[in-house]
Amino acid sequence: MTLKQKLLYLFKLNTEEYISGEQLCRQLGVSRTAIWKQVENLRQMGYIIEARSNAGYRLVSIPDCLYPEEILFELKTNLIGKELVHFNSIESTNNYAKDWARNGAAEGAVVVAEEQRTGKGRMGRGWFSPRSKGLWFSVILRPLTSPVDVSQITMVAVVAVAEAIKKMTGLALGIKWPNDLLAVGGSKRKLCGILSEMDADMDRVKHVVVGIGVNVNILYQEVPSDLRDILTSLLMETGAKVDRIKLLQNILREFDYWYSIWLNQGFRPVKEQWKYFNITLGRRVKVLTLREIVEGIAEDIDDRGTLLVKLDNGQLRSFIAGEVSLTGNGYT
Ligand code: BTN
Repeated sequence: MTLKQKLLYLFKLNTEEYISGEQLCRQLGVSRTAIWKQVENLRQMGYIIEARSNAGYRLVSIPDCLYPEEILFELKTNLIGKELVHFNSIESTNNYAKDWARNGAAEGAVVVAEEQRTGKGRMGRGWFSPRSKGLWFSVILRPLTSPVDVSQITMVAVVAVAEAIKKMTGLALGIKWPNDLLAVGGSKRKLCGILSEMDADMDRVKHVVVGIGVNVNILYQEVPSDLRDILTSLLMETGAKVDRIKLLQNILREFDYWYSIWLNQGFRPVKEQWKYFNITLGRRVKVLTLREIVEGIAEDIDDRGTLLVKLDNGQLRSFIAGEVSLTGNGYT
């Protein structure tokens, strides 16, 4: 831990009372000037720290920023988030994570940004990533698995996000295959999207970057008009601002839990939980792949995460990738 992190840690353990400069010097084994410098540093980052003569310092509030100091504080995961880098602004956390993974990042490393200038969505689309309004982050994984199973990891991720949001907000959520999270109790629009990218040989995955975008505190009027029918946010659905730091911590904890379940027990338990949130199966769907568009009834997902669709001519088709639209029922 850096001196700044240690200082912050002490402040957080004592938010009710002032800690004297002398006590801080003693506990951290540094000079008063060093403490004062770090206090100034934290203030510049947006922390409100009160200083009272004869009493000392007290942490009053923390900024709405996804600093590693906050995210890693009592995170208590085994793998996910063991390393974390934070950017105020970046082109795309996935792009950064891919470079970092190629250069040896540890499994579980996370890249998070307050804003993405050119956030990437699936099927070559963009992803609206306004500053401080959402969670835009990527997780680097190195599973010993074959490339065909990587879509399961994306399903692990969406289950983790759904669990975390459900526990924090109580919102009714639905997963549209393979990994779109929709606000099914409200606007039925999209709250979260996931873009996984991998580097692999024919039979072996080198690394996977799981890029997750959650629309947290975006207001309706902040959404570009062409996206207003498509996306929603936790704020729009619940009417209340959501603590992004706590939400990211909870998602990382759930991801850590579900990823270890997947590694140790395989896809089945993940599939069960995915099905709990599922709004695709049993419905009439249009499946858009890079090559074609087909319509039918979504029958099931198999033990690899493949979507099975019964076409109108009775033929059963399976899809490992693609995009589904749910025809009717108000879904876009
Ligand atoms: C989708 O189209 O549904 C997938 C959206 C994925 C967005 C996230 S935000 C963090 C990460 N970095 C990106 O550029 N994209 C993903």
